[in-house]
Amino acid sequence: MERTLPWSWYVDPEVLRREGERIFAHAWQYAGHTGQLAEDGSYFAAAAGQIPVVVTRAREGDIRAFLNVCRHRGHVVATGAGRRETLQCPYHAWTYGLDGALRAAPRADREPGFDFAELGLQEIAVDSWGPFLFVNPDADAPPLPETLGDVPERVAAIIDLDTLEFRFRTEYEVEASWKIVCENFLECYHCSVAHPGFSAEVDISPDAYRLESDGLTSSQRGPLREHGSSFLVDGEIPHSQFHFVWPNFGINIFPGQANLSCGPILPLSPERTARSLDYFFGPDVEQPWIDELIAFDTQVGNEDTELVTGVQQGVRSGLLAGGRLLTESEQLVAHFQRLCAEALAG
Ligand code: FES
Ligand SMILES: [Fe+2]
Repeated sequence: MERTLPWSWYVDPEVLRREGERIFAHAWQYAGHTGQLAEDGSYFAAAAGQIPVVVTRAREGDIRAFLNVCRHRGHVVATGAGRRETLQCPYHAWTYGLDGALRAAPRADREPGFDFAELGLQEIAVDSWGPFLFVNPDADAPPLPETLGDVPERVAAIIDLDTLEFRFRTEYEVEASWKIVCENFLECYHCSVAHPGFSAEVDISPDAYRLESDGLTSSQRGPLREHGSSFLVDGEIPHSQFHFVWPNFGINIFPGQANLSCGPILPLSPERTARSLDYFFGPDVEQPWIDELIAFDTQVGNEDTELVTGVQQGVRSGLLAGGRLLTESEQLVAHFQRLCAEALAG
C-alpha cells in the first residue's frame, strides 16, 4: 500500500492555482477535433485547464491557436464556434483576425503611439494526432508525440482513426476536484462494486484486466468475458481500451463496432469539474448500435458521478490527512499522483 496525495490538495484553492501555473500552463491538452475547423475561416473556443484558448483556421491558413484573452483589459474574446472573418471582443470591440492580429480598436486613432503590431492575440502551440487537436499554452513545449507516447500505436492496433467520423459531444459538470475525476478514470478496482453492467460484459478480474503506465500516459485494457451476448460482441473490436494522457485527457474505446470517445477533464474550481466527451464512430456503424453504446456508457458515467461526488464529500471533511492506494490495482492512480506531486514540487 502507498499513501495518497494529501486530501487538502483536493479542496485548497492555492493548490489549484499552482496546478494552473505548473501543470496546465505547460501541458499538451485536447482542445477539439479537426472537423470543427473543416472550413476555411472557422474557429472554436476551448480551455486548457482554466486557460481560455481559441483555435482557428484563417482563410488559406494553417490551424493556429491563441490565448483567448483580449490584449486590452483581458475579456475572453471568442465564445463557442463558427465561421467568421474576425473575432471581436464583446467588451470594447477590439477586433482580431483569425491569424491573431489586432485589426481594429475603436478610438485607437486618438491614441498617440498605439501599436497594433504588438497587441495581437498571444499565440500558443497546437498540433494534431489523427482528428484530435491539442494545444499547449507553453510555446516552448516539447513536441506532442513525446506526450502521447505509445497511445497512438495502441489505438491504431484496433481502430483506424482516419475513418472515424465525429457524431456528437456530451458535456456535464461534477461536484468534485479534477484530480478525483482523473483518479476515478484510472482504476477499475471499483468496477465490480459500482459498475455491475460493465463488469458483466468486460472481464475486470486483476489477471485479465491489464494496467500499464509509461511516461505521461496510462492504459487499461479489458477483454470481453467469454460467452458474452450483448451488443458489445457485435463488431471487430475485441477488448476495451481506456487511455489517459497527462494531465487530463481520457480516451474510451469499447468492444464491438468502431467507436471512440475522448475529452478533457477541466477544473472549474477546486471542487468542481467539467467533463466533455467527443464521440466518434466508423462510417458504417448504425444508429441502433450507437444508441445501445450511449445507454451503456451513460449508465457507467452516472455511476462514476456518484462515486466522485462521494469522494469529494469525504476528503473535504478535513479530519483525515489522506488515504491508501493498492500498489497493483491502483498503480495508475499512484502514477498520476506522482506526476501531480512532482509538478507541484518542481
Ligand atoms: S477588454 Fe477586450 S476590448 Fe476591452
Ligand atoms: Fe468507473
